[in-house]
Amino acid sequence: MEEEKLKIALGADHAGFALKETIKTYLLEKGHETIDCGTMNENMSTDYPDWGFKTAMAVANNEADRGILICGTGIGMSMVANKVKGIRATLCHDHYTAQMSRKHNNSNILVLGSRVTPLDLALEITEIWLTTDFDYGKHEIRVEKINKLERECHTESSMSSCSCKTTPGKTFVVDHPLIQHKLSLLRDKNTSSKDFRDALQEISTLLVFPATKNLSLEKVEVETPIEKTETLALSGKKLAIVAVLRAGLGMVDGILRVIPNAKVGHIGLYRDPETLQPVDYYCKLPGDISERDILLVDPMLATGGSASSAADHLKKEGAKRIMLLSLLAAPEGIAHFHEKHPDIDIYVAAIDSHLNKNGYIVPGLGDAGDRLFGTK
Ligand code: RB5
Repeated sequence: MEEEKLKIALGADHAGFALKETIKTYLLEKGHETIDCGTMNENMSTDYPDWGFKTAMAVANNEADRGILICGTGIGMSMVANKVKGIRATLCHDHYTAQMSRKHNNSNILVLGSRVTPLDLALEITEIWLTTDFDYGKHEIRVEKINKLERECHTESSMSSCSCKTTPGKTFVVDHPLIQHKLSLLRDKNTSSKDFRDALQEISTLLVFPATKNLSLEKVEVETPIEKTETLALSGKKLAIVAVLRAGLGMVDGILRVIPNAKVGHIGLYRDPETLQPVDYYCKLPGDISERDILLVDPMLATGGSASSAADHLKKEGAKRIMLLSLLAAPEGIAHFHEKHPDIDIYVAAIDSHLNKNGYIVPGLGDAGDRLFGTK
């Protein structure tokens, strides 16, 4: 019987890079398709959670049929991947664990440790893992029990992190079908500026819902046509939208559609050609910015430099609670932003593969500012 051809997402840190490249070649020779989620650079020490998360998300979102993750021991990658809902990542060291991880656990991510598993064995494990089917029957019942636990735990953990202000920053990929559909329009180079503007505003409206899910509410009394009742309204000072110029402007109206009373601030930054550091050239913020919840908007989180500087600026002005809304992010930008601002969560429609040598997100959508304003 001919071997099933699969689309496989690959991810590795610097320790796993070389093995990832070998496995990629091996998979392509076998006729499989691959999605390389990075890292692309063996010589730079990187953090395995960045690549593990991106790869696991590609599998969880059905962009890939399965995934393969590699770090030095395989341990860190297993931990990361198994945090993602729907992932069953299995660290395999030999033929038997590779086979059983498929037969009994319906593994959808194979994890390998490049420093503990010799190359030949790693390829044999990969082959066995790819060609072994799930046994169903009693094993399906057990895997379904894992799924049930996962559903329960995910609900609990997202509730508790809402109230905990000290939780380190998280990235939420908002992959609702409407958002994904509109994102495809934005990526298409043949989309006109007008359609691009409309789709970006619409996605921004949709991103607001998850980003504002933790706003505080207070009880208010209203009289319905039937009777008086107690209900809920937003409490205290409301929101500010702060756009990073110029592409951030393309997100503001979409957010104002659902939060019409939000105040709007603007921060303009350019990159100093000598130091390559972002420099503020314009900043106009609402006077009471320190009392508002802030939606910082910047469609492309590429290196993360501009968004991070904008957040620095807001914090200097006394901002206490900021959320970053972006359309597309590169793993490099997410890592940089979280390192500088672990207290700020990121809401993004998709995480792309990597940055190219010109600092553009790949596959991305080009320069969002040029596409919005037709300046290219
Ligand atoms: C990197 O040195 C190493 O810590 C990483 O590849 C992995 O083994 C972590 O679990």
